Amino acid sequence: MKWTPGVKYGRLGDDEKCETESRLSNLQKRRRCLILAKTLCTICFAAALGMFGIYVAGYGSPDCGTTDNDPTNNLNNTFAPQCTPITDNQRIDCWPESGGVSEHKCVQRGCCWKIAEQSSPGLSGVPWCYYPTNFQGYTVVNVQTQPNGMKVQLQTTQPSWWPNEVQQVTLDIEYDTANRLHFKFYDPNNARYEVPLNLNKTTQHASVNEYMVEVPSSGQFYIKVTRRSTGKILFSTQDAAPLVFTDQYLQLGTQLSTKYIYGLGEHRSAFLQSTEWTKMAFWSRDQPPSLDTNLYGVHPFYLNIEDDHKSHGVFLLNSNAMEVELQPAPSLTYRTTGGVLDFYVFTGPTPDEVIQQYTALIGRPFMPPYWALGFHLCRWGFNGGSSGMKEVINRMRAANMPYDVQWNDIDYMRDHLDWTLDRNHFNDLPDIVADLHNHGQHYMMIVDPGISNTQPSGSYPPYDDGITKDVFIKKPDGSGPIIGKVWPGNTAFPDFFHPNAEQYWTQHAQTYHNIVPYDGIWIDMNEPSNFYAGSVDGCPDNTIENPPWLPPVLTGYTLRDKTLCATAKQHLSTHYNLHSLYGHSEAIATKSALDTILGNKRSLVISRSTYPGTGVHSGHWMGDNNAQWIDTYYSVTGMLNFNLFGIPMVGSDICGFNGNTNTELCTRWMQLGAFYPFMRNHNTIGNKDQDPAVFDATTQNIMRDALNLRYTLLPYLYTMFYRSHVDGTPIIRPLFYQYPSSTNNVVYSVDVQFMWGKSLLITPTTSQGTTQGQGYLPTDRWYDWFDHSYIDSPGHLINFSLPMEHINLKIRGDSIIPLQEPAVTTTLARKNKFMLLAALSSTGTASGELYWDDGESRDSISGGKYNLISFKVSQGTLTSVIQIGGYTSESMLLGEVQLLGVNTSPTTIVVNGRTLPSADYTYSNKVLTVKNLSENLLQKLTVTWK
Ligand SMILES: *[C@@H]1O[C@H](CO)[C@@H](O)[C@H](O)[C@H]1NC(C)=O
Ligand SMILES: *[C@@H]1O[C@H](CO)[C@@H](O)[C@H](O)[C@H]1NC(C)=O
Ligand SMILES: *[C@@H]1O[C@H](CO)[C@@H](O)[C@H](O)[C@H]1NC(C)=O
Ligand SMILES: *[C@@H]1O[C@H](CO)[C@@H](O)[C@H](O)[C@H]1NC(C)=O
Repeated sequence: MKWTPGVKYGRLGDDEKCETESRLSNLQKRRRCLILAKTLCTICFAAALGMFGIYVAGYGSPDCGTTDNDPTNNLNNTFAPQCTPITDNQRIDCWPESGGVSEHKCVQRGCCWKIAEQSSPGLSGVPWCYYPTNFQGYTVVNVQTQPNGMKVQLQTTQPSWWPNEVQQVTLDIEYDTANRLHFKFYDPNNARYEVPLNLNKTTQHASVNEYMVEVPSSGQFYIKVTRRSTGKILFSTQDAAPLVFTDQYLQLGTQLSTKYIYGLGEHRSAFLQSTEWTKMAFWSRDQPPSLDTNLYGVHPFYLNIEDDHKSHGVFLLNSNAMEVELQPAPSLTYRTTGGVLDFYVFTGPTPDEVIQQYTALIGRPFMPPYWALGFHLCRWGFNGGSSGMKEVINRMRAANMPYDVQWNDIDYMRDHLDWTLDRNHFNDLPDIVADLHNHGQHYMMIVDPGISNTQPSGSYPPYDDGITKDVFIKKPDGSGPIIGKVWPGNTAFPDFFHPNAEQYWTQHAQTYHNIVPYDGIWIDMNEPSNFYAGSVDGCPDNTIENPPWLPPVLTGYTLRDKTLCATAKQHLSTHYNLHSLYGHSEAIATKSALDTILGNKRSLVISRSTYPGTGVHSGHWMGDNNAQWIDTYYSVTGMLNFNLFGIPMVGSDICGFNGNTNTELCTRWMQLGAFYPFMRNHNTIGNKDQDPAVFDATTQNIMRDALNLRYTLLPYLYTMFYRSHVDGTPIIRPLFYQYPSSTNNVVYSVDVQFMWGKSLLITPTTSQGTTQGQGYLPTDRWYDWFDHSYIDSPGHLINFSLPMEHINLKIRGDSIIPLQEPAVTTTLARKNKFMLLAALSSTGTASGELYWDDGESRDSISGGKYNLISFKVSQGTLTSVIQIGGYTSESMLLGEVQLLGVNTSPTTIVVNGRTLPSADYTYSNKVLTVKNLSENLLQKLTVTWK
């Protein structure tokens, strides 16, 4: 549920209040400063400084003194007719720069100047300088109708004030499919940078599209996209920021259907974004998750709800440093520093369908190996190197903790050099990995992109070979590799867009794999992170490094901070254009290397930096979080977002990365983490151990129960991954995906509770000392996982019991969930019998499905080597249909069927024609449990009860 200060559940501690306060963007703070008297300003910013803690360093001082006292200010247009009709909420910022505005300068731009009235709530970010109603911008000179679209020629009539305006702009409108509209603004006379993404541009033209597009045949330009069936607006530049198309400043706005808007990552925020003048910067950055800053990845995609509960999605395919501003009208403004404006609109109309349509374009998520769904354990800084690592492995085994994958952070490397093994501290790592494999477990380790350039010549092939193959990103003048600094000291950076890069990366991955046969790779620091600003030699001073406008990126509005120079040269273009694709390009190269090395075996890549389409190759963890309660909450909103972005394999560092965890926090986090699609407990160097086996016996029991619960549910999770892979259906879902037309709009802001697919509702505890709390229970029948009692909810807030022993888990009536008895590894668990849990609806129905294959072959699906079985209950009978039965080399035995909500005690149970002895079933509390089964799931199943 949403955080409500003062409410016991989700109660905010002091730290959290501070975080909430700091939700004001820096720009909002500045504006707030402007509104307050200048003396107050100092106080305001001092407070902001405190909130930002150490990350504020280098921010520069706020623009407090910019209100204009210039006596030459005689351009007062406050009451001009082109300004007065615009209410505070409808204003569109005409001064998107970070400061320097004055009435004089504003009016010179042809814009309106009016000090914001205090009518808007609180101290808002209402712009004082805003577009007038009659701003001409571009006009339409020609519209050409085409078989499946339009070509529109635009011409500037009122120049913007940005340098290098593109006078003629072409807009191509393409009716891609019935549910996907594509439109792109570009310069017809000069080719500009376009994002080198491998999109599935397949078009399936339909005779009737669900969208309609309107562009005037002459006069002031606008584009308006509506939903054919309802007339609702899906995208409209009317009453929104006008088109600006210059070399380094491009802008376009759209109305939003409602203020219910989601997505726009990677940012740390509530799942529901605020339209109260929220500014979000997009520029991938090595930044521990904090509010209102650009983080590791870039996802310019949003989901917007229409007022009749239908939904649509909008994707801006642009990779330059960008800003999205959400205004209360509600409307949205895009501002970007390069490329073209390339939009896709997806008409849904359900959120699931929007995501299916989006992932059909950017690529569907990869199918993980089964082991990747198990529990992953990592830490940076094993005491004593491999001996400390072995100690953890052994105590996890001794404690019988379900546990599949052991990881290493950078301490396994010699001097932090990629593709090397520290023989002094980790000499027996190959033996440890062999032992993990012998136990049916797997191993992953970190690899960073920075390749040391300071090793003696001939001693470090990854650098020497990179030079030979010419794969490193080059200096701005093209003379050799640009040098930054990361963990090993000074480094060069492979350009994963270079044609030789994949072969280069594969070769070194293979060489190391010959020593340590890892099963997957964790790619970190790939924003790319650089401890120098730009390079060891700094960066040139030009408009690429210092564009006329920049979004509010950390730190201090410079592109090079903590990364490479924007002018660095990559094979395809400048780093200015390609920066936010670095992690994406590394993920592709890394997955490809693993595919080559492991042959037909699936692997796992987990990347810190991501871009649309990264989910095809890699999962994501949400970076260097803190061992604090607030981080458990933001892990849920982060998961919801990445499932929207087509990267369902996602999770946060369980128990917290930075800072020491505590028993209660770690217990609750293990319980919540059991519902992360990617479940990893990870810890930073110097902090106390936090693996489950290090805690006291009571805590271990609770954590083991959480792990066993996850392992029991893995067949269901695996089936969801299959669906995500073939259809793009998200795994982690907010309640409104399932209940979009709830009469109560409260579902649109619920983001602590979440669903696993369509059948499980998870209500975690995200604050200390909380054993009860309010949550939303949508209109449906809900069974408690643990005591099997049910509630027929009318759709309201209820008190959830949040006992320390387990997480609150509810099953939606009408669901059949495939389960398996757990074991200490997925390798062993996969050998156990299956169970079916059928939670009946109030009318006695239920349905579900099970996907199964060998858990590791890459061609399982393409080769038809899998089983897909659907299950249904109606009128006292459970039946199965084998949709696909292509994987027969392993038996699939059903050991138990549990039916929840069986109203009357049955007297006869018949399974596949065999009447069961009464010893084989029990009935109590409306739960019928049929045990001692051994039915072959690859044959049609029939269970009847009377
Ligand atoms: C602008 O003009 C209006 C109407 O003439 C006047 O009330 C207002 O004080 C003026 N504002 C400034 C800053 O001069
Ligand atoms: C490619 O796009 C088409 C049209 O949208 C879609 O039908 C198809 O499923 C997509 N292919 C993949 C692999 O996602
Ligand atoms: C829910 O719990 C709160 C206190 O935690 C209590 O005041 C309230 O009466 C409870 N509501 C219901 C319906 O039990
Ligand atoms: C379990 O089922 C088998 C036949 O499938 C039967 O022989 C055996 O008695 C049953 N055991 C129990 C405890 O009901």
